[in-house]
Formats: sequence, C-alpha cells, structure tokens
Amino acid sequence: MRKALVAGNWKMHGSRSVVAELLDALADGVADMSGGPDMAVLPPFLFVPAAADRLTDTAIAVGAQNVCDQDDEGAFTGEVSARMLKEAGCRYALTGHSERRALYGESDELVAARTAAALRGGIIPIVCLGESLSEREAGETDAVVQRQLRAVVDAVGISGLAGAVLAYEPVWAIGTGRTASPQQAQAVHALLRTYLRKRDAVIGDGMRILYGGSVKPDNAAELFAMPDIDGGLIGGASLNADAFLAICRAAG
Ligand code: 13P
Repeated sequence: MRKALVAGNWKMHGSRSVVAELLDALADGVADMSGGPDMAVLPPFLFVPAAADRLTDTAIAVGAQNVCDQDDEGAFTGEVSARMLKEAGCRYALTGHSERRALYGESDELVAARTAAALRGGIIPIVCLGESLSEREAGETDAVVQRQLRAVVDAVGISGLAGAVLAYEPVWAIGTGRTASPQQAQAVHALLRTYLRKRDAVIGDGMRILYGGSVKPDNAAELFAMPDIDGGLIGGASLNADAFLAICRAAG
C-alpha cells in the first residue's frame, strides 16, 4: 500500500513576514488533522530554515526546490548541496521541475545527476516529469516522459530509484488553471508505473507518483481517486494554508 504524499512547491514566492504567517497557519491547521497523508512544503532555499524551525514536531516535513549534482563543497556558485539541505532540516528536494528544464536549461542528464546526488546525500528526490502542450499535441507524451524517466533510471539504477518519488506535471497544466483530467493523468501515471514494473515489479508497485498541475481543493479528490495517483505536487494553492490542508485532507 502506497502512502500518499502532498507537497507544496512555493516556487519563488514569499517574504519573511508572509512565510512566517503561512507557517503559523499550517502549523495550527495541521494540529487538528489526524491520519493524513505524508505532507511537505518546499520553500525557496532562503526560507528553508524558518520552515524547518516552525514545523518541527508537526506532521509537515520540509524540502527544497532543487539540489546540487555535486556532493562536496566547492566552486559551484549558486548551488546548494544535499548535505547542506539535510543539515537545514530538509527531507525532500525537487529535481527536474519543468521550470528548471525550460527556463534554466536543465537537461535530462543534469536532472538525473541532481537526483543521484540527492539520494547519495539522504534527501528524497521528487523527480518531476512532464510534456509540453506542443509535445502532447504531437502525440509525444509517452515518449517524452519515458525519456525523462530513463535518464534517471540510467543514473541511479532501478533499485536506487526506490528511494525517490516521481511527480507527473504536464507543463500545459502548470499555473494555467487547466488541469489534466483524472483520466489523462491516470493514463500517464499507469504508463510510468508499467515502465518501472517491467524493470522491477516491487519497485514499480511501491513507487509514489504524484500529480501536479493546477491541483485545487475542488479537483483534488477526483485526481487522488485514480489508482496510480499517489498524492500531489501543488503550486499556487500551496501558498494558502487552508487550501493546501484541504488538498492534504483529500489525499488522506
Ligand atoms: P500549479 O499548482 O500552480 O499549477 O503548479 C504546479 C507545479 O508546478 C508544482 O510544482
């Protein structure tokens, strides 16, 4: 039985005061929740220590939005290592978010190397996969997500992947208010699971595959009801504590 995970990707949002308010609201709100899914928030790096402090002893874990592909400290300007994330209280880190791929040129190989470094450093990578609108319209969805996944499996091995989480985020559904239908999402999740099961049935069955892309309190339950959707990666709605916790309850 896979335990659902709901993670809030705050992207580049927040200020010290806004983050403090949001963390207070999350800590208060989650105190009344029992038996929910695994939960995490992924603030900008600068706010990770504040989140880890405020959410200590709550059911909400903390993660980062990226992680360096290098293990050791050194001349890697702008990067943050898995060791540093761990020391700051992170349990998770995103790798391969479509905004990193599209806006900052991260290749399948770099995403795979970042994922491998996270695993070596004891951070659970949430590996993001997804096709653009033009790729979907060209009928390339399956090929694109399998190519992205293959690069990661090649780097860490199928057994290494057991320590990761996958997130399917169709690029055309991110921040657009246009959600993949539960059936569209389920089809891709099933494809990813089948790809993994062919390599290792136990790991394929156990892999948590999150859906991301305009998940809101009013569409979460129908998405999470799909057999291969094991929770969500939430963008905009995770900046509101009530909305985020409502989505978490829908995954409970
Ligand atoms: P939205 O929920 O704002 O569409 O963002 C999804 C996402 O990119 C989460 O990583």
